[in-house]
Order: sequence, then structure tokens, then C-alpha cells
Amino acid sequence: MLTLSPTLVSGATVIVRTDMNVPLSQGHITEDTRIRACVPTLRYLLDHGAQRIHVLTHLGRPKGTTTPDLSTEVLVQPLSDLLGESVEFRPDFTGSTSRIQLHQNLRFDPREKANDPTIIDELMGLSPTLFVNDAFAVSHRAHASVVGFADRLPCAAGHLLQAEINAMSPYLASQRIEGLTLIVGGAKIDTKIPLLKQFAATADHVLVGGALANTFLSAQGYDVGQSLYQPEQIDTARDIMCQFDTVHTGLHMPIDVICADDVQSTQTADVPIEDVCGDMRIFDLGPHTIHSYKEIIAHASAIIWNGPVGLSEFPPFATGTRELLQALANSPATTIIGGGDTLQAIADFGFTQSQFSHVSTGGGAMLAFLGGEALPGITALSAE
Ligand code: 3PG
Repeated sequence: MLTLSPTLVSGATVIVRTDMNVPLSQGHITEDTRIRACVPTLRYLLDHGAQRIHVLTHLGRPKGTTTPDLSTEVLVQPLSDLLGESVEFRPDFTGSTSRIQLHQNLRFDPREKANDPTIIDELMGLSPTLFVNDAFAVSHRAHASVVGFADRLPCAAGHLLQAEINAMSPYLASQRIEGLTLIVGGAKIDTKIPLLKQFAATADHVLVGGALANTFLSAQGYDVGQSLYQPEQIDTARDIMCQFDTVHTGLHMPIDVICADDVQSTQTADVPIEDVCGDMRIFDLGPHTIHSYKEIIAHASAIIWNGPVGLSEFPPFATGTRELLQALANSPATTIIGGGDTLQAIADFGFTQSQFSHVSTGGGAMLAFLGGEALPGITALSAE
């Protein structure tokens, strides 16, 4: 895979596919990790004599139509500030003479998701001489701007993409990796099946939280009251549990949980898992579970985490996620964390990214990569 070098970059007109798909609330960016993460590559291109830089990204899921609330114009100022360079916003795929230009949301154009090569034809009108993929977080999608330049231009991996691959590749082994613990949370089991299967073979421990745990608990025969879970995935959960029975990896479920009638409720209770019933809803790990998970974390030599273990955006249900983040921050182990909600939790609870070994910008991409899937955006860079 080609990586950035002064020879490649000097004098080039570069198209850079980034993923600046940041969370927005009423037009404001609430968490900017993915913008910051683009800076090293863009800085490198500027410092090594790229003549012109066309930055591409998607933002949200506008479904192929122009959606003003999802205009990439909102990214221009923060990106300019971080780079210390003026970035010009281009409302389409045409260029100007500015050195660095950020184009409109790729997903306003239905051809992006459809991987329609005519969008690449149009972008080739910018006369690029180099394509850089720095969008790890969308590299699991075979979208036009992610894979479509492979047979048109020299294609290189950006620094972020390279850093993500370097940080996570050691955990793609097929053999057991001593001291490895996986923490998996979030809502849905289906996106995490490959990850769970991969780590059943390699990890010492897998710690489960979030609504994902409710599906496993239900599959074990526990009543989860009115909690969010996926009844249609019970068989899948059972299959995964059977797989863990045949290996030496511990699959750990909550033994107690924080319950309330609804998320707005200030009346919460720590309930042993066997006592959950009726209208109760599980919103976080209970203190006994947190304690036992922290014991396991303290003995791990590497910890990988994707997905909050509770409804961490609501303060009464944030304890599990916050305490486990603190345990990782205190740990001398290699710590790799990812997933959009987990990034938000890191920011909300006042942690800094430097407290962890690697903070992945990927959500689905991290799951797919660690689950051993070939990511189209990476495969395209390796194509002859
Ligand atoms: C993400 O948020 O995980 C990436 O930006 C990919 O977005 P998508 O799931 O909408 O393709």
C-alpha cells in the first residue's frame, strides 16, 4: 500500500477523502475528533508542497438529496482554525485557485452511495494527480469516493488511515493473545457478531454491557423487563454463547444493573439481574458488575472497547461507562477505544484522548476491521 512521501506529494493536486462525519446538534458540532484526526495528513500535504488540495467528506445520512442542515460548510471554520490556513468552501465539485478547498457533502449526490463512476468522472475534472484515502471510518463502505479512484490515479493511504491500521492490526491474530480483554456495548448485536467471534478465539475476556447485554441475558433466560433488546437475535446470541463455551475466553455479563421506569426518571435502583422484572428498564451496569469488570481490566495487557456500557448521555446512567473509561485511563495496558458514542463519552466526561493508546475514529469500520473483514477502502489502495 502506497503511503505519503515528499516525492509523491510535491507539486501534486490531491483529492483527499476524509471522514469528518461529526455529531451535530442544532447546527453545532458537539464533538470534533474526526476533524482533528484529519489534520496530520492535510498538514503533511501543505508542508510538502502539494499544489492544491481538494478535501471530500460526507456528513450524516442525507439520502442523496441536498439537505441544508448537513452542509459541510459547518466544517470550514473549525478545519481552518486547526490547520491555521484558510479553507475555501466549494458548494459543488468544481475547483478554484485556492490551495485548500472543502467540497459539499458527497452524500447530497445519490451517485456517491451507489458507487456510480460518473461522480468520479466529474471529480476528475479537478485535474487531480493523487488520491489519498484518510477516511478510515467510512472505509467499510464501497462508496464511489472511497473506492472509485483506484483505477484512475495513484492512490495512497493518509496518516490517519495508516495509524488506524497500525494500531489495530496486531489484534487480528487467529491465535490467542495473552492478556487481551474486549469490552463491547452499544445497542445492537448484529453489527458486533464478527467482532465477538474473532475475540472468542483470541481474547482472555469479553465484557458485555449496553442494550447488547440485554439480548444475551434474555437468551440466558433472564427477564429483562421492558429493557431495549433484540428478540429476533436471541438465536444468534445463543450461538455466540455456545462458541464461547468451547474456548477458554470468559464471556462476562452484568450481574447487577441500574434500572428505572424511563430515562427521565431520577428514581433509579441497583437490581440483581435475577430480580429484573415487570416494567423495569435496564440503563446501566450496577456497582458489583462495574467492580468485577474493573478487576479484569486491571489484569489485562491490552483492552479494546467499542460502544458505551450504559445510556451514558444521561447522567444517572453514565457511571458504568465513566468508571470503565477511568479504569482504562489508569491502566498501563494498551488501550484502544472507538465508536461514535464512546468518543462522545470521552469528551463529555472530560477525558483526553492522550489518556488512551489509540482512539479510533471508526464505528462500523472499527467493528468490521477487528472482525477480520476486508474493508473496500483499504483493499482499493492495495489493488495493482
Ligand atoms: C460513521 O459514522 O461510522 C462513518 O462516518 C460512516 O457513516 P455511515 O454509517 O453513515 O456510512
